[in-house]
Amino acid sequence: MAPAIFFALLFLLLFSASSYLQLQEDGFISVALSDKGLDYAKDLLIEEAISSVLSLQVPQIKKSVDIPLIGNAYMVLSDISIDGVQIISSYLKTGESGVVLIASDATANLTMNWRYSYSGWLLPIEVSDRGGASVKVEGMEVGLAVDLKNQEGTLKLILLNYGCFVGNLSIKLDGGASWLYQRIVDTFNVEIEAAVEDAISGKIREGISKLDNSLQSLPKHILVDNTAALNVSFTDNPVFSNSSVKFEIDGLFTGRNEVLASNDYQRGSETCVSCGGFSKMIKISLHENVFKSASLVYFKAGYMQWIVDELPDQALLNTAGWRFIIPKLYRQYPNDDMNLNISVSSPPIIQVTDRDVDATIYLDIIIDVIDAGEVIPVVCISMEISASCAAQILRNNIAGNLSLKKFSTYLKWSKIGNLRMYLIQPVMSVILRTVFLPYVNLHLRNGFPLPVLHGFTLQNAHIFYTEPWITVCSDVTFSGHDSLPQLPAYSDPVL
Ligand SMILES: *[C@@H]1O[C@H](CO)[C@@H](O)[C@H](O)[C@H]1NC(C)=O
Ligand SMILES: *[C@@H]1O[C@H](CO)[C@@H](O)[C@H](O)[C@H]1NC(C)=O
Ligand SMILES: *[C@@H]1O[C@H](CO)[C@@H](O)[C@H](O)[C@H]1NC(C)=O
Ligand SMILES: *[C@@H]1O[C@H](CO)[C@@H](O)[C@H](O)[C@H]1NC(C)=O
Ligand SMILES: *[C@@H]1O[C@H](CO)[C@@H](O)[C@H](O)[C@H]1NC(C)=O
Ligand SMILES: *[C@@H]1O[C@H](CO)[C@@H](O)[C@H](O)[C@H]1NC(C)=O
Repeated sequence: MAPAIFFALLFLLLFSASSYLQLQEDGFISVALSDKGLDYAKDLLIEEAISSVLSLQVPQIKKSVDIPLIGNAYMVLSDISIDGVQIISSYLKTGESGVVLIASDATANLTMNWRYSYSGWLLPIEVSDRGGASVKVEGMEVGLAVDLKNQEGTLKLILLNYGCFVGNLSIKLDGGASWLYQRIVDTFNVEIEAAVEDAISGKIREGISKLDNSLQSLPKHILVDNTAALNVSFTDNPVFSNSSVKFEIDGLFTGRNEVLASNDYQRGSETCVSCGGFSKMIKISLHENVFKSASLVYFKAGYMQWIVDELPDQALLNTAGWRFIIPKLYRQYPNDDMNLNISVSSPPIIQVTDRDVDATIYLDIIIDVIDAGEVIPVVCISMEISASCAAQILRNNIAGNLSLKKFSTYLKWSKIGNLRMYLIQPVMSVILRTVFLPYVNLHLRNGFPLPVLHGFTLQNAHIFYTEPWITVCSDVTFSGHDSLPQLPAYSDPVL
């Protein structure tokens, strides 16, 4: 097939399938690669391809050649290796049903050894000779079309078509007679072309198959810590548009060994968040349900409950410190130590607004008195806290910083009669600011990992809030020393 027709066919492949009206099964995290991101991926792939071609061993070529007057000569080209490849231009194009990658105007340098032998009726003895040769390949074009499909939560890379075409060859022999020179050039041109085309096509199949294997071995969960895992199963086929690829990921938190009925969560609405005019490689959108599911998992795991027996103002942990606030407490338990049993009473309500992440937290603070070694709960104060969380990117993690907006307190129960809440409110405010917020922020500070492949790091990330989505627009850099197809996993969480 002529190269021109082949490449035209590759492009037709992009628009062949009727993926038009497919209903997308939305996930709660969507990852989109922009044309800039695809371009970066293309360059990495080509770099990878070149280095894999450089180690290529082309099978030897043997041929018996009829030489006028002399007879049959047996010729062999061996130790054919590709020493240098340069690709002048390359591009990647996405269509509704896949991606086409084309490298054109490529040149390559080959080296090889030649040898021949013959014994004709004119010459009763066998004559032979050997030497080296270098071959310059010009005007080489390589193209392939691939599709990505969701296969039970992981991605399958499918090679739709591929080809390699060599434009021109120039052969230079070291040594040998001039008749031989011409003979080799005439005879082996086509064979060398075919051998190079076959070898490179083979590398494409091999490279795609490796890449496919590593995609399929991507874990379906990222373990966040000892409590939670993030479900990073793909929920549907990637969607290719003419300048981007979008992946839908489940994105919900589960307990480490728990299966979540994810239809507890309303499937996400379409994301159409722009990157505020920035041209970024990757756009990761997180639906507020991601944070809601995290809130639920940590709540259920008992993470949101703790006993405070140390305070910056330690006087508040002795009934004497409360003498003027709750006089009756002091009278009943003079100079007793106290602790605070703080618990979140229902999973925090989380909402992504157009400015930040809103959190509403219901706290019960039980004041325990320790009287003669016995822990006696005396008062329970409930609080409704309204807080704002600012998202931050820390390497490949999304982290948070909670700040207090307002809170209200009321008495839930008391074993020491009615209290004057206007006196208690300021103390609660101190406890919130000096104990509760720092404690929560300590845990939010590391955040959780975004689904970014091992070896890649987010760079210059910007965060946008569009109810109910948080969107991270970022560039990435590849710092992996592993080869691209061998990337094993998502990047490790920052812990
Ligand atoms: C091929 O060899 C020539 C001369 O030795 C050199 O100038 C050229 O850069 C090489 N090309 C590649 C792609 O290595
Ligand atoms: C092959 O070489 C000839 C002469 O060197 C040139 O005119 C032609 O354009 C080349 N073809 C390709 C495909 O590079
Ligand atoms: C991509 O598609 C949009 C509409 O879907 C169209 O406006 C735009 O011109 C297309 N771009 C290219 C490069 O084909
Ligand atoms: C992860 O998400 C996928 C797709 O939504 C779902 O089929 C699977 O059951 C989820 N796994 C767990 C452990 O919840
Ligand atoms: C703290 O209070 C909760 C009720 O809010 C209770 O279930 C738990 O046992 C208390 N913990 C301690 C150590 O007293
Ligand atoms: C968290 O936000 C507060 C203001 O609300 C700010 O003072 C503090 O520096 C922030 N912390 C981090 C780690 O960004």
